[in-house]
Amino acid sequence: MFTTIQNNDPQMFDLLKAEEDRQRDGLTLIPSENHTSAAVLEALSSVLSDKYAEGYPGKRYYPGNEVADKVESLTRDRAKSLFGVPHANVQPYSGSPANLAIYSAICEPGETIMGLNLLDGGHLTHGWKFSMTSKFWKSIPYHMTADGIIDLDEVRRLAQENKPKVIVCGGTAIPRAIPFAEFAKIADEVGAYLMADISHIAGLIAGGQHESPVSHCHIVMTTTHKTLRGPRGAMIMVTQKGLDKDAELADKIDKAIIPGLQGGPHLNTIAGIGVALLEAAKPEFKDYAAKIVANAKTLAQELTTHGLKLVSGGTDNHLILMDLTTTGPGRGMFVDLALDRIGLCANRNTIPNDPSNAFYPSGLRLGSPAATTRGMGEAEMKMIAHWIAQVIEHTKDFQLPDNKEGRLATIKQFKESLKTDTWYGGLRAEIKELCNKFPVPGIS
Ligand SMILES: Cc1ncc(COP(=O)(O)O)c(C=O)c1O
Repeated sequence: MFTTIQNNDPQMFDLLKAEEDRQRDGLTLIPSENHTSAAVLEALSSVLSDKYAEGYPGKRYYPGNEVADKVESLTRDRAKSLFGVPHANVQPYSGSPANLAIYSAICEPGETIMGLNLLDGGHLTHGWKFSMTSKFWKSIPYHMTADGIIDLDEVRRLAQENKPKVIVCGGTAIPRAIPFAEFAKIADEVGAYLMADISHIAGLIAGGQHESPVSHCHIVMTTTHKTLRGPRGAMIMVTQKGLDKDAELADKIDKAIIPGLQGGPHLNTIAGIGVALLEAAKPEFKDYAAKIVANAKTLAQELTTHGLKLVSGGTDNHLILMDLTTTGPGRGMFVDLALDRIGLCANRNTIPNDPSNAFYPSGLRLGSPAATTRGMGEAEMKMIAHWIAQVIEHTKDFQLPDNKEGRLATIKQFKESLKTDTWYGGLRAEIKELCNKFPVPGIS
């Protein structure tokens, strides 16, 4: 791999190799990350990257798009068939612009959107106060209960009081199944569009491990690079229910993408999405999705056995949200940095009713998709849980001070300890040894 870059640009070559080493010798436990197949990576590096194709198949602003039209149509058809929808737009550059495009297609500026609060597991683009989505539209966030379950009573109350134009269901740190039917009841009661952001769970839906939102929602958005295991990108799908509500909805979504928000689509990415969608339609992908969930459940069970606390007590999907407050508030950063030191990459995250704040959250978010892609199973999940428990125990004396000076000093001291404390070296070696038995698909 990379032989041309090696000759032309040794500096960049070294960095690409270093990232391959990092991915191969460590383990990705961030639930929004995955390893695409070598076939997807090939599509990404194809000459389609060089082509401009503003517009849609058959209606482009540039010549030379005969092949591009076929690539985009094929990918669109695969998306429609896999998820059972009448319309799919495969051009969004990523999930954030896709969500922006959806709101702009169906809401006038200043109208109301409702999504899960960022700190409770929603996404920035679901109306967080610093996101453009709350500057252009009025954002009414809903929350999780203290048990880590979406507070549907609050959703109904806020929807009835605020009459939103759209309700968004789905998020980034939700360990339990999304109750699409309950959301649909509420949205229908107030005449709102229901949009499912299935970015995290699209692969589980395609693999039959999570209920599909299609019969309940008007619009479905997904990123393509998480459990779906494609390249970084996104798709917006319009359901039959959506077309029944507004016959122009598909056209409005397409126009919101271009000319509304984007220019030329990234055709190499669209080809990569097409390759990933074909993979996701195969029977093996159903096994893969089932293993993702089984692995997450095993990991959750083992963490609990080690006395660790999980938001909502467990998981229904690929994601686990650990509540680290049993060892003190604001400890997510210490645990995430210490895990990274030994080659386990998971991320600090807020938990519902976090006693700390978004910069120093009290939770850790873990997921099984990438480990499952590498072929890991029950035995490996047990080892991972054991390592995580050891790290939490080993770092528990590092507590987050209330004041800024104290915090900076403690963090500095902690980072220093990651370099000097020889205890980490043994675990790092064990994890590297395990990881080298489970290859990453795109790394030869
Ligand atoms: C639920 C959800 N929606 C939207 C996005 C935004 O996707 P992107 O990072 O591709 O813009 C993410 C990404 O983390 C997400 O988890």
